Amino acid sequence: MFLLRLLLISLVLVPPARWAADTVPGYAVASAHPLATRAGLDLLAQGGNAFDAAIAVAATLAVVEPQGSGLGGGGFWLLHRQSDGRDIMLDGRERAPLAARRDLYATAAQSIDGALAAAIPGLPAVLVQLARDYGKLPLAASLAPAIHHARAGFPVGARYVKALTDRLTALDASPAARAIFHPGTTLPLPGDVLIQIDLAQTLERLAAEGFAGFYGGETARKLVRGVRAAGGIWQMEDLTAYRVVERQPLRGHYRGLAITTVAPPSAGGVGLIEMLNILSAYDLTGVPLPARRHLVVEAMRRAYHDREQYLGDPDFVGIPLLRLLSPNYAAGLRSTLRLDRVTPSDGFSQTTGPEPDGANTSHYSILDSAGNRVAATLSINYGFGSGFVAPGTGVLLNDEMDDFATRPGTPNVYGLIGGEPNAIAAGKRMLSSMTPTFVESADATAIMGTPGGSRIVTMLLLAVLDFADGHGPASWVGLPRFHHQYLPDVIEYEPGSLSDPDLRDLQQRGHRLKPLAAAYGDFHAILWNRKSRTLEAASDPRGEGLALVQIKPPAQ
Ligand code: GLY
Repeated sequence: MFLLRLLLISLVLVPPARWAADTVPGYAVASAHPLATRAGLDLLAQGGNAFDAAIAVAATLAVVEPQGSGLGGGGFWLLHRQSDGRDIMLDGRERAPLAARRDLYATAAQSIDGALAAAIPGLPAVLVQLARDYGKLPLAASLAPAIHHARAGFPVGARYVKALTDRLTALDASPAARAIFHPGTTLPLPGDVLIQIDLAQTLERLAAEGFAGFYGGETARKLVRGVRAAGGIWQMEDLTAYRVVERQPLRGHYRGLAITTVAPPSAGGVGLIEMLNILSAYDLTGVPLPARRHLVVEAMRRAYHDREQYLGDPDFVGIPLLRLLSPNYAAGLRSTLRLDRVTPSDGFSQTTGPEPDGANTSHYSILDSAGNRVAATLSINYGFGSGFVAPGTGVLLNDEMDDFATRPGTPNVYGLIGGEPNAIAAGKRMLSSMTPTFVESADATAIMGTPGGSRIVTMLLLAVLDFADGHGPASWVGLPRFHHQYLPDVIEYEPGSLSDPDLRDLQQRGHRLKPLAAAYGDFHAILWNRKSRTLEAASDPRGEGLALVQIKPPAQ
């Protein structure tokens, strides 16, 4: 089914006796773009750690994959620091501007296209915090590869051109965006070189001045002036008051695997653990495939229902986290599940919105030779975000405001119908599906994640179940995918991912099925097997990414 290339490097080592069982034999980076992967690997080769490499990869993605993420967006970084064994979640999610109100948007388009759709970016603040609190190298060293690619230019790929074509109307409405991404009268072709001088200068101010180089001074003034001139509501205080929040990651278990994942305002971690808790009572390896798919779909349905009911920014709304994550709660949900029949979702939604395919948002995974690790999923939301660039900044702003429940009862671009806990409020973070995750067995540690809108969480579920079945990164990233999100009450599936007998069986159980026109996701994963002392990394064959492993020569 997938004729695209699978980029996988796997190395089996004959271990010298002097390697301790938990010594990492090298380091690895997997990301959505070869230049970003190489930037991360170069930082590691220069003596940087995984956190320095995380800065280099995120900043380079901002330049070479502008449709997916960037300085004008945000994300979640899941860190493991080997020296003290701590897992940390850096919440760099965008915040609603302080002038935002729950009824800000009269039409759906206003929260998707243009300056009013943009929330306050978090990604630059995360880069500063990573360098200050976790990295070994100066911020300027970690930003150098991104600045180089912005100034020197790089050849754009087919995914970039497709995403640009899809978002041309929004981009053309912003003169500064048009001048960068669509100059002249014709569309760029794969191989054309994109140079971004304004973005290089913005990155240089960030490198020189840190937080104040983006959230204050010239960059902030240009951002606020540009946004307001285009009908947005940003104020200088929005930028100066932005803070990264360090949160405690969530933990769960599934049949011998330990899961570490992100907490709200991501809905992903709660959903993933809830689904795994529901499924943990079944020995899925022994369940025939159609019945297994039925159980997995019913777990998805229940977790996405809870997402709508309970989840929002934990700094604004009370979330019954302990209950949602408890195995007893999952047992209650399981008792509502029929093995032979679908449990219909309450009310049907006829959403036929665009199909996010993983060309927006981005994920990368990093492991260094000390055992530090990073799983990061970052976004400007829709492809090329809001399509808006504030003049003189080169920064494409997000349209993450659409991840709020902007108009109750109306689905967003991912078909998600938000609930009251996710209503807009000044300074609030919008709910997300981004789910960077670590999974550990007795012998191995995995770092994984993917873009893909509301389907992110179910992609993670399928990968964790595949890990439990004994498979590795090459299998996780290439898995055929299917998805259910409570509403609309349909199983969406990639071309060819469900066989005809599976489809017939699911229909007989009462499921509605929706074949998708295209594959989705762009999964990037690393596996360090402590027992066999091997490192594997893989990038999704659906994308243009690159996974690289570098093995260190053993000390003599
Ligand atoms: N903007 C996509 C997400 O955060 O889920």
